[in-house]
Amino acid sequence: MIIIYHTKKGIILAGGKGTRLYPLTLVTNKHLLAVYDKPMIFYPLAVLMLAGIQDILIISTSKALPAYRRLLGDGRKYGINLFYKAQKSPDGLPQAFIIGEDFIANDSVAMILGDNIFYGNNLDKLLKKAGSRKIKSTIFAYYVNNPKNYGIVDFDQKNRVKSIEEKPDNPKSNYAVTGLYFYDNRVVDYAKKLKPSHRGELEITDLNNLYLGQEDLEVEILGSDFTWFDMGTVNNLIEASKFVKNIEQRTGTKICVLEEIAYRNNWIDKKKILNVLDKYENSPYAKFLQKVAKDKIR
Ligand code: DAU
Repeated sequence: MIIIYHTKKGIILAGGKGTRLYPLTLVTNKHLLAVYDKPMIFYPLAVLMLAGIQDILIISTSKALPAYRRLLGDGRKYGINLFYKAQKSPDGLPQAFIIGEDFIANDSVAMILGDNIFYGNNLDKLLKKAGSRKIKSTIFAYYVNNPKNYGIVDFDQKNRVKSIEEKPDNPKSNYAVTGLYFYDNRVVDYAKKLKPSHRGELEITDLNNLYLGQEDLEVEILGSDFTWFDMGTVNNLIEASKFVKNIEQRTGTKICVLEEIAYRNNWIDKKKILNVLDKYENSPYAKFLQKVAKDKIR
C-alpha cells in the first residue's frame, strides 16, 4: 500500500490591530469584517479545508477570540476541529509557530494569514501537492504591481529562487510571497531562532530564508488564472468584496462556503447541512446551502 503523506494541521493567524483600517477595526477584529457576503475569516478557512486540513488553530487577540468561538464553534458543523489561542501582542507572523508549538507537536503545518483570499481552478490540487511534502516547505508567489508592499522573491534564469526580501525599497522582481505557507516540523525551532527585525517583529521572510539556506524551500508560482488578495487596506477590502460579488452574481453560486467544502470533502452529510439552515434563516447563504443539499450544484 502506498501511503501518501498529507499535512493535517493548519493555523490561521487572525490577530493584529488592523491599524490601516481604523476606525473600522477599533471595535471589530479585522478578520470578522464583511468581505461581500461572509466574514473575512471564512476565506482563509476555506483554503485550509480545500487543502484537506481538519485540525485548525485560530490565533487572534484575547479580546477577539470569544467572537471567533461564537462564529465558528468547535468546527464540528464543518467536519473539522477548531482550536483557539491568543497572541498577546502582534510581534510577527512566525510567532504563530511558537504559540502553536503544542498544537503542531511532531507534525508539519500550513499557515494562512487571516486576511488572504485565494481563488482559482485546481487550487485544491496545488494545495494538496504542497501538503504532501513531509520534508521541505512550500510558499506561493503571485505577480503584483506594487512589490514594495510585500515579501518579494527573485528567481534566476532556471527559475531557482535567488533571494527573498521583505518589503524591499528596490524590488528585484514583482513576485510577492503570498500569505500561505506549508512548513515541515523544523518550523518551531526555526521560529524560536529568529530575532526581531528593525520594525521590532519576527519576520516570515527571515524564516523562509532559513529554509532557502538549507535548499528546502519550494516556491510555487500562482499564474494569472489565480486571484490573490490580502485585505490590509480599505481599497483591498473593497476590491476583494467586488471580486467575490462578481463571481457570485455571474454564476449564481457562492465561493468559500464552509459547509459546501465540508460536504464535498465527505466530512459532513446532507443532514448536517439541512440542520444548520435554520441558523442562516432566509439569507442567500441559506438558499445556496439548500441547493447544495439537493445536489443542484456540481
Ligand atoms: O500578505 C502577504 C504578506 O504578508 C507577505 O508578502 C509579507 O512577506 C508578510 O510579511 C506579510 O506582510 P503584511 O505587511 O501584509 O503583514 P501584516 O503585518 O499586515 O499581517 C498580515 C496578517 O497577519 C494580518 O491579517 C494581521 C495578522 N497578524 C500580523 C502580525 C504581524 C497577526 O495576527 N499577528 C501579528 O503579529
